Amino acid sequence: MSNKKINPQVITNEDGASMEKLVSLCKRRGFVYQSSEIYGGLNGAWDYGPLGVELKNNIQKIWWQAMTRKHDNIVGIDGAIMMHPRVWEASGHVENFSDPLIDCKACKTRFRADHLEADNPEALKNKKCPSCGGELTEPRNFNLMFKTHLGPVDKGDDSGLVYLRPETAQAIFVNFKNVADTSRVSIPFGIAQVGKAFRNEITTKNFIFRTLEFEQMEMQFFCKPGTDLEWLAKWKEERLAYYHNLLGIKPERLRFHQHGANELAHYAADAYDIEYLYPFGWQELEGIHDRTDYDLRRHAEFSGNKRLTYQDEETKEYYIPYVIETSAGLTRSVLITLMDAYHEESLGKDDEGNEDIRTVLHFHPNVAPIMAGIFPLVKKDGLPEIAREIETELKEEFNVYYDGSGAVGRRYRRMDEVGTPYCITIDHQSKEDGSVTLRYRDTMQQVRLPKEELVSFIKKANKNYKRQ
Ligand code: GAP
Repeated sequence: MSNKKINPQVITNEDGASMEKLVSLCKRRGFVYQSSEIYGGLNGAWDYGPLGVELKNNIQKIWWQAMTRKHDNIVGIDGAIMMHPRVWEASGHVENFSDPLIDCKACKTRFRADHLEADNPEALKNKKCPSCGGELTEPRNFNLMFKTHLGPVDKGDDSGLVYLRPETAQAIFVNFKNVADTSRVSIPFGIAQVGKAFRNEITTKNFIFRTLEFEQMEMQFFCKPGTDLEWLAKWKEERLAYYHNLLGIKPERLRFHQHGANELAHYAADAYDIEYLYPFGWQELEGIHDRTDYDLRRHAEFSGNKRLTYQDEETKEYYIPYVIETSAGLTRSVLITLMDAYHEESLGKDDEGNEDIRTVLHFHPNVAPIMAGIFPLVKKDGLPEIAREIETELKEEFNVYYDGSGAVGRRYRRMDEVGTPYCITIDHQSKEDGSVTLRYRDTMQQVRLPKEELVSFIKKANKNYKRQ
């Protein structure tokens, strides 16, 4: 069935995609655009284009499947972004959710103290402004929560003050009892949620890595005190496997980092980051935290609601559950999925003797924005009609893209560059015997098969997909 196999020579990407190339591809092919670009853009804010939103939705769907539907003890919610302001006092965010910031007295540039490696006053004494060499201020704490006001009149004080949530987790904690009472779940059980979160980040470089507005996929797993370390270990293992197996991320670009005492968030007794090897170094992708009974205890205290306890079914004793949290960034997952997939390969010399370089995104089919390109070889002889029929059938199952003009080689390359796993070409033989050619993105091998078998063929190939 197959014809010749081409072994493309990999010429870049040993250290991942360069940020510049990735940002350029994202804009050129409609993954991510700068927000408000026609007005000069807004730092730290990005818009997802037609392919970006497909990629993001696919990742969200995979996460939801893996974290709720595949577990009989995890259910989902979708909480409001704006919550009662006392929530954020109870959670500790009003008091503790801040970055120490330093200003340059001369050029007024603002820096995070930890980014200047000047977390203590001694280290700071000798530091000068990295931009202009000017004198620096002492660090001052700057709360990262965005504030807004409810009601038609802003009185200029704190009446009507609400925050845009800086994490999705708190909607889960304040609904703990609602879910426990209405969902017939018993401990240990989890509540999952995907949604927007907002942080007034001072450093927003590196594309969509750290933004003002982003999406999180969080799951809070409620367990009996004393079993938390066991669950922490289990969730660490499961979350790492998710990135390898379901998103197709290269294992050697992922690792754990355990938080030292000075890194732990105010709510955490123990915490691990799953880190990814970005072009700018190892950085966080997901946090896995042992939040103990901190949040439920604080909400019981601040709300006066003593019902945030759980009665053990066997022993009948009451306790406040401990929580293991898995907190993944959805928009950050989009970034690593793109980076990890990016490849440039030399296919030798082209007809004019120039090096022929193929840019390809090796997306796992689970996340690929387009599953298949559909190409009639020519615009006549009834081939477009057959191609449209195939498109209609495949659309029931997958997102597909019809491209009816231009050299077929160029059409392949356009699909490679956006990570489409398969291209289907309809030629004159298709008219005679109903067969089509299917080309694999990764190997560029082609097979011929009856058009009626396309859906089952693609599903099977996806199931057996192995990352190149
Ligand atoms: N509920 C716990 C929590 O929010 P976190 O480590 O602050 O923990 C979890 O955030 C994840 O959310 C991070 O690992 C990252 O993927 C994502 N994230 C956090 N801040 C972000 C930002 N400013 N821009 C994009 N993603 C962010």
